Amino acid sequence: MTLLIFLRRKLSLTGTKLGCAEGGCGACTVMVSRFNPHHNQIIHHAVNACLAPLCSLHHCAVTTVEGIGSVASKLHPVQERIAKAHGSQCGFCTPGIVMSMYALLRNSPQPSMQDMEEAFQGNLCRCTGYRPILEGYKTFAKEGGCCRSRRKGNGCCLTTSTHSGQQLFDPSEFMPLDPTQEIIFPPELISLGKQPPRSLRFIGERVLWIQPSSLNELLELKAVYPAAKLVVGNTEVGIEMKFKNLLYPVILAPAYIQELSSIQYTENGIEFGASVTLTMLGKKLHEEVNKLPNYRTEVFQAILEQLRWFAGQQIRNVAAIGGNIMTASPISDLNPVFMAAGCKLTLTSKEGKRALQMDDKFFSGYRKTALKPEEILLSIEIPYTKKGQYFSAFKQSTRKEDDIATITCGMNVVFQQGSNIVKDIKLSYGGIAPTTVLATATCNRLIGRWGEELMEDACSSLAEEMTLSPSAPGGMVTYRRTLAISLFFKFYLTVQHKLHLSVEDVKPNYASAIELFHVDSPTSVQLYQAVPPGQSTDDMVGRPIMHLSALKQATGEAVYCDDIPQYENGLYLALVTSTKAHAYIKSIETDDAMAVPGVVTFVSAKDLPGSNKTGPAVCDETVFADNKVTCVGHIVGAIVADTQAHAQTAAKAVKISYEEIQPVIITIQDAITNQSFYQPVRTIEKGDLAKGFHESDNILEGEIHIGGQDHFYLETNCTLAVPQGEDGEMELFVSTQSASKTQALVAKALGVPASHIVCRVKRMGGGFGGKESRSTILSTVVAVAAHKVKRPVRCMLDRDEDMLVSGGRHPFFGRYKVGFKKNGKVMALDVTYYSNVGNSMDLSLSIMERALFHMDNCYNIPHIRGTGYMCKTNLPSNTAFRGFGGPQGMMVSESWISDVALCCGVPAEQVREINLYKQGEYTPFNQCLDQFTIDRCWKECVNISDFHQRKARVELQHRWTKRGLSIVPTKFGISFTAIFLNQAGALVHLYTDGSVLLTHGGTEMGQGLHTKMIQVASKTLGIPTSKIHISETSTNTVPNTSPTAASASSDLNGMAVYNACQTLLQRLDPYKARNPKGSWEDWVIHCSSIDSDFRTPDLGYDFETNSGHPFNYFSYGVAVSEVEIDCLTGSHKNLHTSIVMDVGKSLNPALDIGQVEGAFMQGVGLFTLEELRYSPQGYLYTRGPGMYKIPAFGDIPTELKVSLLRDAPNEKAIFSSKAVGEPPLFLAASVFYAIKDAITAARAESGLSGPFRLDSPATPERIRNACEDKFTKLVWTYTPWDVRV
Ligand SMILES: Cc1cc2nc3c(=O)[nH]c(=O)nc-3n(C[C@H](O)[C@H](O)[C@H](O)COP(=O)(O)OP(=O)(O)OC[C@H]3O[C@@H](n4cnc5c(N)ncnc54)[C@H](O)[C@@H]3O)c2cc1C
Ligand code: FES
Ligand code: FES
Repeated sequence: MTLLIFLRRKLSLTGTKLGCAEGGCGACTVMVSRFNPHHNQIIHHAVNACLAPLCSLHHCAVTTVEGIGSVASKLHPVQERIAKAHGSQCGFCTPGIVMSMYALLRNSPQPSMQDMEEAFQGNLCRCTGYRPILEGYKTFAKEGGCCRSRRKGNGCCLTTSTHSGQQLFDPSEFMPLDPTQEIIFPPELISLGKQPPRSLRFIGERVLWIQPSSLNELLELKAVYPAAKLVVGNTEVGIEMKFKNLLYPVILAPAYIQELSSIQYTENGIEFGASVTLTMLGKKLHEEVNKLPNYRTEVFQAILEQLRWFAGQQIRNVAAIGGNIMTASPISDLNPVFMAAGCKLTLTSKEGKRALQMDDKFFSGYRKTALKPEEILLSIEIPYTKKGQYFSAFKQSTRKEDDIATITCGMNVVFQQGSNIVKDIKLSYGGIAPTTVLATATCNRLIGRWGEELMEDACSSLAEEMTLSPSAPGGMVTYRRTLAISLFFKFYLTVQHKLHLSVEDVKPNYASAIELFHVDSPTSVQLYQAVPPGQSTDDMVGRPIMHLSALKQATGEAVYCDDIPQYENGLYLALVTSTKAHAYIKSIETDDAMAVPGVVTFVSAKDLPGSNKTGPAVCDETVFADNKVTCVGHIVGAIVADTQAHAQTAAKAVKISYEEIQPVIITIQDAITNQSFYQPVRTIEKGDLAKGFHESDNILEGEIHIGGQDHFYLETNCTLAVPQGEDGEMELFVSTQSASKTQALVAKALGVPASHIVCRVKRMGGGFGGKESRSTILSTVVAVAAHKVKRPVRCMLDRDEDMLVSGGRHPFFGRYKVGFKKNGKVMALDVTYYSNVGNSMDLSLSIMERALFHMDNCYNIPHIRGTGYMCKTNLPSNTAFRGFGGPQGMMVSESWISDVALCCGVPAEQVREINLYKQGEYTPFNQCLDQFTIDRCWKECVNISDFHQRKARVELQHRWTKRGLSIVPTKFGISFTAIFLNQAGALVHLYTDGSVLLTHGGTEMGQGLHTKMIQVASKTLGIPTSKIHISETSTNTVPNTSPTAASASSDLNGMAVYNACQTLLQRLDPYKARNPKGSWEDWVIHCSSIDSDFRTPDLGYDFETNSGHPFNYFSYGVAVSEVEIDCLTGSHKNLHTSIVMDVGKSLNPALDIGQVEGAFMQGVGLFTLEELRYSPQGYLYTRGPGMYKIPAFGDIPTELKVSLLRDAPNEKAIFSSKAVGEPPLFLAASVFYAIKDAITAARAESGLSGPFRLDSPATPERIRNACEDKFTKLVWTYTPWDVRV
């Protein structure tokens, strides 16, 4: 059992969250403290509770978020500051981030910014964009920290708001940190720790865990149980048992054995016990590097560089050196360094010790070593280096922070004394073969030589030696081979530079290639308009008030669906899903599953009392697959058991046999070949295309593929269904954006009227569209199970299941033909979109329509035609995702803009500017652009970003690092394009004590909707926000609600709340008139409940006639981004972003800026990082944070400026505001096109010019492959391991 399960299920301490169960998100972070009797010291570490075995915590103190403070008692400053700095939106990541910060402060009460950045490497947040978290916590930092409002007369240094004279938060309000007030380490654990170690045995249902007290006992045990695993950090074994379905019946835990944890100096270096953690290793090596001359510590420095990018802090705190070596992973970050350095390993068994050199014979096969079964690794000696010896290590990964390596290597060269003649050289690579390898043939050819010629020779030799099979797991074959060569080139330049006293130094414009990847600490500016002077202090509209749940989120008191206490007779559900993409189900065998202890039943299509047909818009799918599966991950059935572990074990034991069906259609290209499309094919056309092309000076054609995206809400889908015992009534607690849709579809499946089902939503840990329709399937499955067993049933999907079954953003493929004048003015555009819809329609038609409505982005094209095909494939159904097709539609337009600019030789910003719409012009769907603000946004953005000076600087280029700059506008239509959804309701209860309970149709997923609605109600009623409460969203208070989506929820629900409050005020008028001096409490006695609804007027669009209004209004924005790419590795840094966003008259600038930054960072993920990878058979490889990389703290732009456009009231929405949830996402395309700009410069060095295709996301692989040069030419292309869907 893991610590996390114990905390949540046994102790009901639900503040610690489950986000991934694989150590990749940090939501489960707690602080573990232990007493080290050998150093007489208490050690505090942030640890991932999801991987920490409970048995490993003997004599440890565990501090959870509940232990450091609460709203009910007293907050801890760490909790207060993240909340008040607006660093908590949905709040699901917040307790983990709080605990990472808390553990850091326990070790270092005044940390540096670098300490902080390291502490957060293992924490992810999907909502905030990280900036506000860092801003809040900067106030603890010693340097670069905050003035705490002590700056002379200018407010706080962190929040610049020159227009407003106000701040987003006020650090002077913060409680000071007083380290003397922290909870102490329990003294009894110190006494226990001083006692001689005892051996311990824990006997579980499937595993025997033994903690031996001495090395001898360990060796005896290993002789008795040679197959036993030694577990220290459990960061490998834990993953194997959870995700690879491996079972190790005996586990030996050697963490407390002195010999395995010791660090000793030897003649040649330092010997580290195998159980020394990576944090300890790093600490020791740092000390040595600071103490010894540089030439002695070349290997140490290289290890420190690898550790900088090795997992997150929580993993490094527990993971051991021995675990890394013995796992023998081909992408281990340390093994190539150890191998190239020739480290000495000491092995031991009952028979005695032996020493081995870490060379290419040590790893005997994939995850195999030269150790005998009864042997263990005792220690590793890491050598000092000598004069004339140079060592480097490199790790390249998709995301710099906390990511597994694509290629990782250690490189060691020794020169003959006083010369530049190579005496010995070792190049060791991970990521090229099933084991860590030495490039022996290349090394042999290099002995006795050095210089430019050697480098060229080495590169050709590496190209021959470092080959990979076409189907090599991990894919990226061309890239990996190019990297092997490029990294050697970096090493060559680095050594050349170090040798420069004796030989020629590297050319100045090559120097950047030897710099280590480093990102400066971020800085930021937020600009917004203050409320007008004289606005009543009770009127909270327009003020940056904190998300009203933020404090509870920071203390772990906020309740999410899976935090609801377990019912005494409650059961757990685990899904059984298809492993085939397209097949008939021949049989389902459940005997083995039913034999697992605690299993109650198997649920399948046979158990539905109502209809198995379901679907949010079209009923074209089933709750459970019925005789046929149409994707991997199709839900076939579910197991219900007494615990989640039993349910999951049993679900894995269900055997399904299939008969495969052809064709299996996975990619858009497959669908085009097979003409597999859903109907209708939509078209929007305006003008005369033939005329437009005829009037053009140039015509070009191009293509772009835009990859899909997983929602990666930190809280996965979750439902608790509670049968009420009479009339088929059922109460559902769900993490969903669509309470009413859930109610309707569950009622349909159960065969009862909707009135018998209540769906309740307290809050979600993020939604982003992923819980708009797909969540209904899980809820229906759970409800059917609860109905069958007549007991409460719950299911919170594991991250890998969630990613597998729930679909994501649609991948798009755009093909275009564009006609333009010599100056870049576009005359005609014919564009075709293909979206990868998956195995059911879901919301795909509306998504394709929105893509078409955004095919023009902000550009006036006189003659235009857009056509949209929805590809029917054997993938899980794709669905809504922030932007809803709009970003894909606009991304294609920016692709042809970029091509036109490259073709005309005109700067892209100039082409964008001359094509921009003007006020009063009409879109391709004939909607007039009134209140058009893009020109104002553009000018302000150029101004605040110093665009022109930046441009001049960008043009000063190095050979191997290139900078790129881009400015991108966006226009986003606001309204549901399904017209009937543009309505909302609200219900206001008044209680006789004057308190107000507000309910509306929207759900809270972190966007601050409830906070804004309380602001609206407070202003309308003229009472303080403290009198108004929102408890939840439920179908029995406000019925028939629309999903909380399309960015329209503040507009729609805000108007409904406003109308309800107005009606209430009218009813109160006579009582006020009768008692004008009375208080609110006096008046409300006469009135109790008011409900109201609202419908957006004048909406409706007809595709046949291209007439009517699909949108109520548009939101506008512009962004400028600057990046730097490393042409040799494909890595990039986000150096600067300025955003100007028109949000009308902001209801709450803090929440709106939070939405802008959060959406922008999600867009950065979409366009530069996040890549869903499928096998050609439709199997999703990327099923967790280990393989699927969303942006982390280190990805935010070093400089980020966000400005809300001033004086831009919007007469079409509540209190002149505008929708903000989705529109800013597309602005991240500015980063993509800045990268493309930088690649253009790199290609120019190789004599390449003109348009080139760059697909999204611009991952390091794509960037490197696009920067064609002499190294890429040495490598040829293979058929890939994965396919682009
Ligand atoms: C989120 C996450 C991120 C990660 N990031 C990285 C990364 O960036 N780079 C990287 O290289 N790895 C990474 N890893 C892998 C892993 O953390 C490391 O391999 C780690 O060093 C394993 O140490 P451990 O103590 O946790 O191993 P455990 O899981 O405890 O053990 C691993 C294996 O080593 C064996 N073993 C341990 N000690 C001995 C011994 N003394 N003698 C014989 N066998 C022994 C065990 O039997 C077991 O087979 C990551 C893992 C996770 C979960
Ligand atoms: S839940 Fe533990 S790291 Fe994600
Ligand atoms: S606030 Fe961080 S994940 Fe939602």
